[in-house]
Amino acid sequence: PETIEEKREFLHKNHIAVWDVIHSCDIIGSSDSSIRNVVPNDLSEILENADIKQIFCNGAKSYEYYRKYQEKETGRKAIKLPSTSPANAAFSIEKLTRAWKEICVPLQVAPTGIGEVLLDWYDYNARILPWRSEPTPYHVWISEIMLQQTRVEAVKKYYDRWMEVLPDVKALSEELMKLWEGLGYYNRARNLKVAALQVMQEFDGEIPADYSKLLSLKGVGEYTAGAIASIAFGIPEPAVDGNALRIFSRILAEDGEINKASVKKKTSQEVRRVLPKERPGDFNQALMDLGSSICIPNGEPFCENCPWESICQAHKYGRETDFPVKAKKKQRKIEKKAVFLIEVSDKIILHKRPEKGLLSGLWELPNVDGELSAKELSEQMKKWGIGDYMIEPLGEGKHIFSHVEWHMTCWYVEAALYPDADVKELIWVSRKELDQDVALPAAFKTYRK
Ligand code: ADE
Repeated sequence: PETIEEKREFLHKNHIAVWDVIHSCDIIGSSDSSIRNVVPNDLSEILENADIKQIFCNGAKSYEYYRKYQEKETGRKAIKLPSTSPANAAFSIEKLTRAWKEICVPLQVAPTGIGEVLLDWYDYNARILPWRSEPTPYHVWISEIMLQQTRVEAVKKYYDRWMEVLPDVKALSEELMKLWEGLGYYNRARNLKVAALQVMQEFDGEIPADYSKLLSLKGVGEYTAGAIASIAFGIPEPAVDGNALRIFSRILAEDGEINKASVKKKTSQEVRRVLPKERPGDFNQALMDLGSSICIPNGEPFCENCPWESICQAHKYGRETDFPVKAKKKQRKIEKKAVFLIEVSDKIILHKRPEKGLLSGLWELPNVDGELSAKELSEQMKKWGIGDYMIEPLGEGKHIFSHVEWHMTCWYVEAALYPDADVKELIWVSRKELDQDVALPAAFKTYRK
């Protein structure tokens, strides 16, 4: 900032209060050594009315007078920083900046310049991933949606298979569900199809190079819009995922709860502040790589290899695992299920799930809640209109969703006749049709095999 007005606004915006240690004195020119008849300032009013986290003194003289006249009154220790006066010739602007970075700690802001440090690290340590070799908007979009709730290792092979079959938005707008099978969170696939149609109709088949327009696509939230904008188009937008939140909560010793909207907003601001404008996509992905290899989520991070070791507040105090601060997790609900693999002359019976809720609208192996007794088993078969059959157990299975666990017992049923045509949610398909046309959820993977 150049003008007084701009300087005032800068201080306000950054929550910095500036005050003099001395109210009045006799002084010859600006010679510190000539100071006599000091009348100190009363700091009590500012300290009582503002939430002052830390007092810093600009130069040795102000520190000396603070200690002499104010420390006892305020009951607070001040930190001495080198004077920003042009008369302090021993300090270059670089040296001053380095020393003054300390004021970022109580302000909980990320020191400037750390973005470039992270990029230097990334240039040697970036993971080689299929969607990174040619980061077109389409490649970035599909990979980011796949990566929303699924690990990088699991996504790799799905991504390659997908690009072979659906190489562009046009192909995507025509076909997709089957390729998603097994990846879970099927709403992502449904949204992709809607968004592909949006791109074809509203944006002439071109994924838009604009953050707000990207946000308007179905299934694209702030994180994904930021990832596509930065990685594919070089637009300087943050992409704040769990990695970025964790890393910034550690470097800033952020004690707010990590799932709070206010903490997320502040983190986005800090990411934006340090994000190098020339390489936003690399910076956002560097955060992802730092988060997956060094600043890891569970257990001790590998701080000795971290490019931000020297500026990290959590590391400074050995409190790496205290951050991020998390609300207690709710226990996952356990649901018992009896699952049926029913075969009638080489066809497998499938059931359509309701249009709302978990795995909505997908075909599944027929199943009911609970553990069934022999009597209940035969009643269930009757309900489906399956008369003459042979039944044997296929064993236990478990599938974990984000909020629910299914604990399953499966029964293999060989039936003589197809179910009642009146039971509308049931269909029967050949093994080939099951392989080619049905997106059977991963929950049934064991029994399908
Ligand atoms: N997770 C989500 N997006 C990613 C990306 N672009 N690279 C690595 N991991 C990711």
